[in-house]
Amino acid sequence: MPYPEIRPRRLRRNAAVRRLVAETRVDPAELVLPMFVREGLTEPRAVASLPGVLQHSRDSLRKAAVEAVQAGVGGLMLFGVPAERDATGSGGIDPDGILNVAIRDVVAEVGDATVVMSDLCLDEFTSHGHCGLLTPDGDVDNDATLEAYARMAVAQADAGVHVVGPSGMMDGQVGVVRRALDAAGHQNIAVLAYAVKYASAFFGPFRDAVESALEGDRRAYQQDPANLRESLREVELDVAEGADMVMVKPALPYLDVVSAVRAAVDVPVAAYQVSGEYAMVEAAAANGWIDRERVILETLTSIRRAGAQIILTYWAVEAAKLLRERY
Ligand code: PBG
Repeated sequence: MPYPEIRPRRLRRNAAVRRLVAETRVDPAELVLPMFVREGLTEPRAVASLPGVLQHSRDSLRKAAVEAVQAGVGGLMLFGVPAERDATGSGGIDPDGILNVAIRDVVAEVGDATVVMSDLCLDEFTSHGHCGLLTPDGDVDNDATLEAYARMAVAQADAGVHVVGPSGMMDGQVGVVRRALDAAGHQNIAVLAYAVKYASAFFGPFRDAVESALEGDRRAYQQDPANLRESLREVELDVAEGADMVMVKPALPYLDVVSAVRAAVDVPVAAYQVSGEYAMVEAAAANGWIDRERVILETLTSIRRAGAQIILTYWAVEAAKLLRERY
């Protein structure tokens, strides 16, 4: 009888030994909760394609921010949904625009107890739904958009945000944002660059959450899912332009990219588990086809194992509670 002398199963025998030898742990402090605030709401509103995710009123946002802090999440990423949009996305720059108002509200409520971040992009604020200003031909005008991002960054920093997250994939956006922040006296505001962002169909439910009516697609500025080396180039450029942290987005379908980025740079690497990743799991779980909680923790562990130190996830609060129960 051949009989194995080396038995890896010894270290899988029971929960105690598995816990002892686990190579990867997810800490709630590394989770960031993306949150939506909708102008003009008096009550929070459900997002149909993201069960469990809300469009918040200003009031409910404050309360949910406190709840997230109490759960121990490491950060909040705020998205604004304006009541009115225009061609230039002026609501993103207006100090009284919904996102800037919400930043003030949340910072006043939670102070430095967590890291308050804001999405720095025009798509929630433009009537056409693109991430920038359009040329007369309908292309996204890179350099005109950069000027708008610079003003938006300063407006967000003036509102008290701790970290800005430029996510529009315009060339040079990190450098322009960094210089604008510095010139306005905001040297201490960090930049989390959405350095690697694919033109992904996994962003579908997000469009519902922000009520975006995008005509066309974003393939002329977001990346082709076929490319990996291009992502390393994007990351290298963003770090050279002053990014304090870099992000890969989406997460689960791009774990090879997360891993390669981790190996290529020494700044903190984040990954965004996006709306479509969340919606797929929720839909399968609602049908009784998968064990929801186990799948949530398995996806987060896998993203962490691939090399993301920070994970943006709509499950941040629930996952923080689950993780505390399990360890
Ligand atoms: C841009 C932005 C998007 C997401 C985060 N920031 C949409 C897009 O680029 O198309 C998507 C996040 C998600 O799908 O959960 N403001």
